[in-house]
Amino acid sequence: MPDLKDQIALVTGGGRGIGKAIALALGRLGAGVMINYRQSREAAEVTLKELVVQGGSGELCPFDVADENQVEEAVKKIVDQHKKIDILVNNAGVTSDNLLVRLTAEDWNRVIGVNVKGTVHCTKAVCRRMIRERYGRIVNLSSVVGQIGNAGQSAYAASKAGIIGFTKAMARELASRGITVNAVAPGLIDTEMTTRLPEKLRDEFLRSIPLARFGTSQDVAEAVSFLVGPGASYITGQVINVNGGLYM
Ligand SMILES: NC(=O)c1ccc[n+]([C@@H]2O[C@H](COP(=O)([O-])OP(=O)(O)OC[C@H]3O[C@@H](n4cnc5c(N)ncnc54)[C@H](OP(=O)(O)O)[C@@H]3O)[C@@H](O)[C@H]2O)c1
Repeated sequence: MPDLKDQIALVTGGGRGIGKAIALALGRLGAGVMINYRQSREAAEVTLKELVVQGGSGELCPFDVADENQVEEAVKKIVDQHKKIDILVNNAGVTSDNLLVRLTAEDWNRVIGVNVKGTVHCTKAVCRRMIRERYGRIVNLSSVVGQIGNAGQSAYAASKAGIIGFTKAMARELASRGITVNAVAPGLIDTEMTTRLPEKLRDEFLRSIPLARFGTSQDVAEAVSFLVGPGASYITGQVINVNGGLYM
């Protein structure tokens, strides 16, 4: 497994769900992990404790990814203290599920604001530092829904497709500076986000997954761990599907 000793990683939404599994996985590989959260402070504290118990190190890093000023301030604080950021995992995400005719402008603003603009704000803030170091690894969480669409998830699908376009543009923009930018597109992963899905939709999805199970947060964390490690140094602008074959 890749050795991330002496590297500093920022995982947005790292306090719970898939982000928590990613934070713990990067911690096990030796990275110092900055665990971002917006409102789930208690969950983030538990994650930090687990990180320390498993022999890792990290810090809590509260900010709203949708707020550019908060992001800039938080990243500045990390860089002032640790002198660098090597890894950014843009994991924070929200969904607002409804038919288009029922989705409000507020719903759209929230989903695009967190998923797309949040990814943009964090990337912009860390890449300045990565460019100076001529090294960096950025992984963005997309979704199978951004690849194949889903009725009732137009805002979420648009945001996750947007992340794929942004990933490819940044991969081209930053390649000459030694920075790779990739996306991971999970299928259906068992987290709070998917327990909120209607039972009928969950059953429909399950029937269409060749590996016949939902994924785990750990399945996603494994792909992210690979992409941020030295073994993935020739991989950029790619979308790695972790979906049990749901889309291929
Ligand atoms: N679960 C799935 O099946 C699945 C499938 C495909 C893709 N994904 C993607 O994987 C990522 C993680 O999903 P999940 O299932 O773990 O979701 P989740 O359980 O709902 O967790 C969402 C995470 O995002 C954070 N977050 C939300 N808004 C934020 C903001 N404005 N600023 C900072 N953090 C914010 C939350 O932190 P707070 O609670 O502190 O706000 C939480 O840690 C998302 O990008 C999601 O779209 C998930």
